[in-house]
Amino acid sequence: MKSDKFTVSSFLKAKQSGEKISMLTAYDYSTARLIDEAGVDSILVGDSLGMVVLGYENTLQVTVDDIIHHCRAVSRGAKMALVIGDMPFLSYHISPQESVKNAGRIIQEGMAHAVKLEGGRDIIDSVKAIVRAQIPVVGHLGLTPQSVNMLGGFKVQGREEDKAKKMIEDALMLQEAGVFCIVLECVPMQLAQLISERLDIPTIGIGAGSGCGGQVLVTQDMLGMYTDFTPKFVKQYANMKDDIISAVRGYIDELKSGRFPGKDHSFTMDEEKLKRLY
Ligand code: KIV
Repeated sequence: MKSDKFTVSSFLKAKQSGEKISMLTAYDYSTARLIDEAGVDSILVGDSLGMVVLGYENTLQVTVDDIIHHCRAVSRGAKMALVIGDMPFLSYHISPQESVKNAGRIIQEGMAHAVKLEGGRDIIDSVKAIVRAQIPVVGHLGLTPQSVNMLGGFKVQGREEDKAKKMIEDALMLQEAGVFCIVLECVPMQLAQLISERLDIPTIGIGAGSGCGGQVLVTQDMLGMYTDFTPKFVKQYANMKDDIISAVRGYIDELKSGRFPGKDHSFTMDEEKLKRLY
């Protein structure tokens, strides 16, 4: 268990000391409690919620209300980790005012400590407005899943020189706009390392190699629970799919054969009182 809460300043301290930042996603109270107890630095209530928890094909259907609902649960479970609420599709594209309003709801109603937005120069006015409202912001470059229809699928980003240059410029613009860290998703490891070296703030990689200041994974992916689609960058640290299926089969089997519930899992009452009921 950590002795100090992880804060925005801890991100910047980690960049200076070179300590790697650990981040995982969570969408509910009990998972948040477990990963917080295990010592994770930061918990992202990602819009991956749409795919992993709600069963959508991508993240585009997730709403601000969905994020708030799940953020509230996670925030109650996270005692030490910094909680980041993802701003969903179209919640920061219409106007900076609307972006501040939506970010503010994620902080006020969702009880998150910070918000995350996907994109670079196109959303910079919203980033600046949210930072001006004293809300800490995380950037997100590379594969930005909310742009899946524009990108033509979930693909590695920044392999071409012009796209790589644009990503470096976007990272510097986000830093200038006041974000305290940037997620780099599905970016060639050499480019991610270069961006990480150019910035004074930490980068958090997912499919971006080991040169980033930290890493983030979707918890259901790393625990082997969500197997609809497993990207190359996922390392499974457990096989909970098999564990869950085997446990559920054991339960069904014991129930059907009369072995569950036994006396150990049942309550009794006074025999005299019972007799009077007959
Ligand atoms: O929604 C999410 O979980 C994310 C991470 C994969 C970075 O954005």
